[in-house]
Amino acid sequence: MAGVGSCLPSRVVSNDELATRLDTSDAWIRSRTGIEQRHFAAPGTATSDLAVGAGAKALKSSGEPTVDAVIVATTTPDRPCPATAPVVAARLGMTGTAAYDVSAVCTGFVYGLATAAGLILAEVADRVLVIGAETFSTLLDPDDRSTSVIFGDGAGAVVLRSGTGTEPGALGPFDLGSDGEGEALITVPAGGSRQRLSGVAPRPGEAYFAMSGKDVFRHAVRRMTGSAKAVLDRAGWNAGDVDHLVSHQANLRITHHVAEGIGLPRERCFNNIAEVGNTAAASIPLALDQAHTRGVLRPAQRVLLTAFGGGLTWGSTVLTWPQLDRS
Ligand code: COA
Repeated sequence: MAGVGSCLPSRVVSNDELATRLDTSDAWIRSRTGIEQRHFAAPGTATSDLAVGAGAKALKSSGEPTVDAVIVATTTPDRPCPATAPVVAARLGMTGTAAYDVSAVCTGFVYGLATAAGLILAEVADRVLVIGAETFSTLLDPDDRSTSVIFGDGAGAVVLRSGTGTEPGALGPFDLGSDGEGEALITVPAGGSRQRLSGVAPRPGEAYFAMSGKDVFRHAVRRMTGSAKAVLDRAGWNAGDVDHLVSHQANLRITHHVAEGIGLPRERCFNNIAEVGNTAAASIPLALDQAHTRGVLRPAQRVLLTAFGGGLTWGSTVLTWPQLDRS
């Protein structure tokens, strides 16, 4: 890993603001999720706008003006077709560069890292920009208090380059998994080929994101704990070797359960969910950039990443933090 950056839309939405239109309260949201506020993109701001902001900062941080491939992990592409990555690459001055999207909902960034690492190992690319970017607010049912309070918008990005397995920044191994039998637990029912929108109005609420919160909570804890343990095993690390757990920011209580399951003290979890909510595929790279900028992540420290999302999907990897500027 050779560079990191992030981008948040300027509008901050507090719990109190949501409580003015939904039957909820700041106290409920804080105590059940750990979230205090989130950022929402203004109408007219698309996922690619945030992705370009984060990608430009990651490129600058890496000292590389261009890369050989651009991967965008997102649940909220600018359009159903084409993918968002090519326009992001073009706007970053990389017309002609390989660019594609990865769709694994909140696990998308870890899947994106794995495919980027694969491109490098296969010598298809020497440097890859991996961006997680979301305007998740565009999927939320404004009347659904169980989802509206959780998600936020944002983007984070990293640059990967080829290197040795022993230098700071070395990434991997990976653990990835899925269980499509849990498809209905996290879903936007309408708009794809299963429930088509062409010429037919979606059934009420079915164009919005829906989630079975309690079931998702249990699956998230189980899968992230299992995946994190598997990747630690593959890396030959013990829980005690991990300086920081940067997990998908789904719910503070989920992160604490995962840390406990792995055998890590809570103090080793980096959390920014209070400030940004759950930003889906953007969550881990946004957290990495904030932890780096705040001086929490220091060179050569050992970092464990784990994520869980719709699909169901999950994935984990490890890295040693590189020496990067903090400008
Ligand atoms: N404000 C106030 N009350 C709310 C509420 C809100 N925003 N959302 C739900 N409630 C109510 C429910 O209606 C329910 O009321 P009832 O007891 O009268 O039926 C009560 O709170 C408990 O609901 P429940 O769903 O059991 O709450 P919970 O403690 O499981 O918390 C979530 C709900 C969504 C916060 C929690 O399940 C969660 O975080 N799930 C995982 C979500 C997630 O991480 N998704 C992304 C994964 S990638």
